[in-house]
Amino acid sequence: MTARDTYRAILEGEPYKVRAMMAFGTNLPVSQADTALAHRALSQLEFHVHCDLFETPAARYADILLPVNTPWEREGLRIGFEIDDRAAGWVQLRQRMVAPRGESRADNDVIFELATRLGMGDGFFGGRLDAGWNHMLEPLGLTVDQLRARPEGIACAIDASEQKYARATPTGVRGFDTPTRRVELYSETLLRHGQPPVATFVEPADTPRDAKATRQGRFPYVLSSAKNGFYCHSQHRSLPSLRKRAPDPVAELSPALAAAKGIADGDWMRIRTRVGEARFVARVTPQLADDVIVAEFGWWQGCPELDRDGLPIEGALGSNFNALISADSCDPVSGSVPHRSFLCDIERDPATETRQRKWSGYRPFRVGELRPEADGVLGIHFEPVDDGKLPDYRPGQHVEMQLHLDDGTQVTRAYSLTGAAEVPGRRSYSVAVRHQRGRSADGTPHEGRVSSHLHCALKVGDTLTLRAPSGSFVLPRHSPQPLVFFAGGIGITPFISLLESLPDGTQGPAIWLYYANQNSTTHAFRERIAQHRARLPQLRVVDHYNAPRPQERLGIDYQSNRYIDASVVDDALIAQRARFYMCGPPAMMDAVTDGLMARGVPRFDIFSEVFRSPTAPPTDGDQHFTVNFARSGHAPATWTPRQGTLLTFGESLGLQMASGCRVGQCESCAVRLLAGKVRHLHGSEPEDPSVCLACQAVPLEDVVLEA
Ligand code: FES
Repeated sequence: MTARDTYRAILEGEPYKVRAMMAFGTNLPVSQADTALAHRALSQLEFHVHCDLFETPAARYADILLPVNTPWEREGLRIGFEIDDRAAGWVQLRQRMVAPRGESRADNDVIFELATRLGMGDGFFGGRLDAGWNHMLEPLGLTVDQLRARPEGIACAIDASEQKYARATPTGVRGFDTPTRRVELYSETLLRHGQPPVATFVEPADTPRDAKATRQGRFPYVLSSAKNGFYCHSQHRSLPSLRKRAPDPVAELSPALAAAKGIADGDWMRIRTRVGEARFVARVTPQLADDVIVAEFGWWQGCPELDRDGLPIEGALGSNFNALISADSCDPVSGSVPHRSFLCDIERDPATETRQRKWSGYRPFRVGELRPEADGVLGIHFEPVDDGKLPDYRPGQHVEMQLHLDDGTQVTRAYSLTGAAEVPGRRSYSVAVRHQRGRSADGTPHEGRVSSHLHCALKVGDTLTLRAPSGSFVLPRHSPQPLVFFAGGIGITPFISLLESLPDGTQGPAIWLYYANQNSTTHAFRERIAQHRARLPQLRVVDHYNAPRPQERLGIDYQSNRYIDASVVDDALIAQRARFYMCGPPAMMDAVTDGLMARGVPRFDIFSEVFRSPTAPPTDGDQHFTVNFARSGHAPATWTPRQGTLLTFGESLGLQMASGCRVGQCESCAVRLLAGKVRHLHGSEPEDPSVCLACQAVPLEDVVLEA
């Protein structure tokens, strides 16, 4: 039975009227074609109970939403696994790993208990799940108790031999499980149901070859769909670890079609069909035909931790593929809908301002303003030399700066942006740089070459180059949970960008900002933060000074003279599942992270920005290694140190390789290493040795990459 059959039963009473529904985990308006039809049907139900882990778009139609628990909170019977023949015969009663959270119940428990209360217990093994499982296990000669005693599982003999159809029987060869025992190219069964007995090609109902179907050319392109490999159907987009790798819904189109429509890679584009519209980020894909668009399905969920709001499931601001597809013509045999053959038109989303597109590579900027923000902290404002407009960014992101020092050395550094994330007609960016100075153990003074240059030699009007803003350390402008920020010294910069981005009033997230400085002289953005406190009632700031000046009063000018650690966080915030973000010296971030985890905060609720600048690959040395980008079809090429990282090497060969931060943080550039060894320039090797981060990896021998 398809979703369309369910809708028909609810709306038209065919083959009988469905008036109430109890659903377990299904997300019909997003996972099945025809969101408008799903809306009509689900709105029509007289009683609707939905059982799920999350409040999904389908759950919002329900009268009652029941929380079910995860597989780790309950036992589960598994008969057969999908690895090999031995696994296929393995039977296991999976143990419960943790107690159920809150009032959540296993969906089996909900069904069995409900059936019993409705007087249908006899049909549900007397309401005893074990009895039901024993019934299933009986043919195998097993019981639930035996499986409980052997939590690793029990092997059962199964017939895994091939070519069973060729076995001899008393009446001849066994054959296949078809009425004729043969492979049926001609099917009497189909014929009896009024269908062609031999498979034939039938042009889709919506064909680009039919002027009526294209609405006289208004919908000239074929819309197909694909799954995003990071997610399962409409799930998992709320998980930051996955979302940072695939942050936005994508639609692919050919270079010629993109050029004809004025769409560039990375632009938001709008897809319209005769039943709906939705927006996606364009990915230009040379392999596609010029009249085909392939869009991802399953997008609705927000990921506040990465500043991504939930998406509407209908309308121009949504990205729900199934809102684009009608279920009015289905395949009569399979019941499938035209998910890969619907007609559409596309345009660049009017919200995409072409003059504000992200640029690739480095773009020349001049210094527009230099402003001291504190002792040893310099604010730098940049304007593009071409006087063009600039793309916005998300709070917490950074720019990569390339400049030449006085001795001619070219250096690259990354700095968090400090201004508001969105500025209409933006024409400038700003960062803040601390002058890195100190003394080594023997008392010798030292200072950072780049920060010294910026503080002592940079003048208004000087030029340097910037990459477009990027980075996966992103701070939420909306959050259902409280946000706790830890900033050490110049680590305040990403948080300043967030505060600049929040509108006046109380709608924003509840924020606790713990900010460590030596004293008021090194306290960057002190006045500005005070102004934000005055306009953002939900912002609390706790200043920590470890070397206060004599005139600075504890409790008035600053709130603590201790170093920041996890003990500053109230238990109530941890109980509310606050999200924790930090940027500062590694020692502070390690102490806070360890302390929070010791108090039960999950590691995935803690986010940190490492001050990390791109590491220049060594350009000397005479190593020569062969690099084979196996999936590209490109001939193996010779790498020398001058070629840089595997990412820059691949790009120099004309390969399209995924990348994001380019400093080893976001993992967007992760590729499988099929052979050979690499070294990562940023000094940390991925946990999985079969994967390398192309933006950081250089070969140590001949390598083969799955790229
Ligand atoms: S591009 Fe982000 S880790 Fe390589």
